[in-house]
Amino acid sequence: MAEEQAGILFVGDLVGGIGRRTLLECLPLLRERFAPTFVVVNGENVAGGLGITPKAADQLFAAGVDAITLGNHTYRRREIYAYLDSEPRILRPANFLRSQPGHGACMVESAAGVRLGVVNLSGNLHLRAGRSAFTEVEAALGEVAGADQIIVDMHAEATSEKVAMGWHLDGRVTAVVGTHTHVPTADARVLPQGTAYITDVGMTGPRGGVIGVKREQAIESLVTQMPVRFETSSEDPWLMGVLIRCSASAPRRADSIEQILMPRPT
Ligand SMILES: [Fe+2]
Ligand SMILES: [Fe+2]
Repeated sequence: MAEEQAGILFVGDLVGGIGRRTLLECLPLLRERFAPTFVVVNGENVAGGLGITPKAADQLFAAGVDAITLGNHTYRRREIYAYLDSEPRILRPANFLRSQPGHGACMVESAAGVRLGVVNLSGNLHLRAGRSAFTEVEAALGEVAGADQIIVDMHAEATSEKVAMGWHLDGRVTAVVGTHTHVPTADARVLPQGTAYITDVGMTGPRGGVIGVKREQAIESLVTQMPVRFETSSEDPWLMGVLIRCSASAPRRADSIEQILMPRPT
């Protein structure tokens, strides 16, 4: 199966209904342009900006999303807990505690029989994750050992942790992509041993806010230092992602990584 040149479209944190709709409207265009074998999205902010619900996850799967990764907002919605245990294609960081609902790795298969392993990790700096991403990634990779391709979503605040994870896994996985900051970085490249890497993919949501939040509310909170109720902005929605072309000659390696920054079609 590895001979077929697969493509993986990875889309950064969907923020709110506007993020979900932006993905759904961009996806047909992206399928036409890139014909990705797999579509993986980070959905940790899709339910009103915080967390994900079974309904939202079902909607993404119905649109042809192959796997959903999450992050620090995984458990904001109590109704997702049982779903995280029962649905194999939705992941929470593998280095959360074993006692927490859900799992951190899965394998999905394309119609042509290409197997993609997906691993979700959380950084340990400024985020609550019970175990080290750098030690727990080994067990997570073991769970997808038979995969033709592997993509790792390293959901982390600190650029240093993400850069380090890219180097740590270079030559062992197809791609390491960073999420969480909602701001895309300009460092997409294939590392020397063949792993595609980007520090942050960015978000799929409103650029007119402050990482997704209405900007006047975010600014008020910063100016007054008082609690402010945050709502998702609807201004200037964009899809942010990457397209990874897998190597046709070697398993679990990439030929290229291309950044996608695309306004919602009007
Ligand atoms: Fe996050
Ligand atoms: Fe996020």
